[in-house]
Amino acid sequence: MRYDINLDDARIGYKPDGNFSRVLFVEKSRKLNPRGAAFSSYSPAYMSSNEQLQSIMQILKPTGKNVLAITGSGDAPLFFTAYGAQHVDTFDISYNARVVMDIKTYMLKNNFCFYDYVHVLRDIQTAPDVLNCVSGDVVMHAVTHDTLDYLCGMRGCRIFMHTSNGEIACFPDSTEFATMKQNVRGRYNFIWSDLFDLSGRITDKKYDIIYLSNVLQYVNAASDIVAVLNNMRAHLNTDGVIVVDSLLQSLAVARHKKYKSVGDNISGWADLIYDKSAMTMFLKTR
Ligand SMILES: C[S@@+](CC[C@H](N)C(=O)[O-])C[C@H]1O[C@@H](n2cnc3c(N)ncnc32)[C@H](O)[C@@H]1O
Repeated sequence: MRYDINLDDARIGYKPDGNFSRVLFVEKSRKLNPRGAAFSSYSPAYMSSNEQLQSIMQILKPTGKNVLAITGSGDAPLFFTAYGAQHVDTFDISYNARVVMDIKTYMLKNNFCFYDYVHVLRDIQTAPDVLNCVSGDVVMHAVTHDTLDYLCGMRGCRIFMHTSNGEIACFPDSTEFATMKQNVRGRYNFIWSDLFDLSGRITDKKYDIIYLSNVLQYVNAASDIVAVLNNMRAHLNTDGVIVVDSLLQSLAVARHKKYKSVGDNISGWADLIYDKSAMTMFLKTR
């Protein structure tokens, strides 16, 4: 797949000191997507997940299943792989999500120990030039030619960020890390797309699990969420599941309210189910 990277566009929002402007990225995203967004095509990517991926995997039981997952930090796709998914495709609005996912995938495939894996992630998280930091060599080997050109053009830009609360980052435990290494095949297919265009970017593929957690929360109107879910229905196998949102316990009374209306509007073909143990909202087809 070819990716049309525009370096002038990509550098907007990054400051000369390497940092980025959240305000600029949000403004830019709203122009691209007035339905509510905080991210755009080159916004910084998270280095690690803040979701309870272990609990979520135990509920989803992805063994042998086909999955479409938000790329994010790359952790969700990797956890699906660790828990036995047969095939995982990924998508994200930000190209930087692909970069972090490819770096993690490379380290796992090349048998890095956990210490080195975390060390590289810490190193590149704060680097204003990921090709010219201690771990620059790893990055160069990990990414594709198009990404390498992109990273050359992004020198001086801090393209990664830690989770809103770095301390609760979700890292794989030793068994999960070993299984990721064992199961990971190579780079994941990455669909560079806004959620609202995603359905049109998938050809005739169908999935057992579509993982939209921590993405739909940025969509303001319940009617827009319903539109996305209705579109994704065409890509769901019989008995398929769409993960709609997670981390709901502490964060989201308002989000719960929004989902009441979403649930009412999709009730013709699916049920919205809240699982307390994983703090996660699922859509299950009838
Ligand atoms: C809060 S982060 C999710 C991080 C996630 N918790 C993880 O485990 O890595 C949201 C992700 O969704 C992506 N995103 C946000 N809005 C999007 C949209 N409209 N379309 C596609 N991706 C979007 C962002 O680029 C980011 O990678």
